[in-house]
Amino acid sequence: MSAAPGLFVTFEGGEGAGKSTQIRLLADSLRARGLTVLMTREPGGSRGAEAVRHVLLSGAAEPYGIRMEAVLFAAARSDHVEEVIRPALAAGTVVLCDRFMDSSRVYQGITGNLEQPFIEALERVAINGVVPDCTIVFDLPAAIGLERARKRGAGESAAPDRFEKEELETHEKRREAFLDIAEREPLRCRVVDATQAPEAIAAQVLALVEPLLPITAHGRQDPEHVS
Ligand SMILES: Nc1ncnc2c1ncn2[C@@H]1O[C@H](COP(=O)(O)OP(=O)(O)O)[C@@H](O)[C@H]1O
Ligand SMILES: [Mg+2]
Repeated sequence: MSAAPGLFVTFEGGEGAGKSTQIRLLADSLRARGLTVLMTREPGGSRGAEAVRHVLLSGAAEPYGIRMEAVLFAAARSDHVEEVIRPALAAGTVVLCDRFMDSSRVYQGITGNLEQPFIEALERVAINGVVPDCTIVFDLPAAIGLERARKRGAGESAAPDRFEKEELETHEKRREAFLDIAEREPLRCRVVDATQAPEAIAAQVLALVEPLLPITAHGRQDPEHVS
């Protein structure tokens, strides 16, 4: 857990699970309470990391192999942590991050077949002690998630990215891998059933985060809102 005065919450799960939707809803709720919130995402979130994001999601790094991709994800994460997340937490900000280290464990480690010690070493270097206080795993059958992601893409210009276009079986394997992480680290991770309506999920997410909220400039959070 970070000793910083802020709070670090990460959103994890497969494509279309509702991470981006829920991160916005939680940010709105917390801001309405007067908390300073930073909403960020991976890969990316800092200038250096956004440059690497393009290389990763376009598939430009794919020909060089999964090891190269994993190192690039770690490079981006390191920049994001040191330039953005750590300073924000030190300033007492609630940092909400759309994907973080568990996505690397799952995508590069489990479905990328990279050996565990390699992934663990990259994680250690990249996060450099900045472990999420809370990780919310959005759990959804892969077929539903992919269908949602496809519909979302239809309204925008986006073709499926490097990771969205993989086989259904691979996406199911990732779902299991996220659940495994949550089971192994029950203090940090919470699993939310992402098949529910967005409002129901948002209420659950808020209830998970509420007890962890930092002290605001006005003293403790509004006691009316403490669960
Ligand atoms: N609980 C939900 N039920 C049905 N559709 C949802 C739900 N949450 C999000 N969506 C829709 O599914 C698509 C993917 O959601 P998104 O939040 O972008 O997922 P992610 O960021 O995990 O890939 C979007 O079009 C979004 O509006
Ligand atoms: Mg998203």
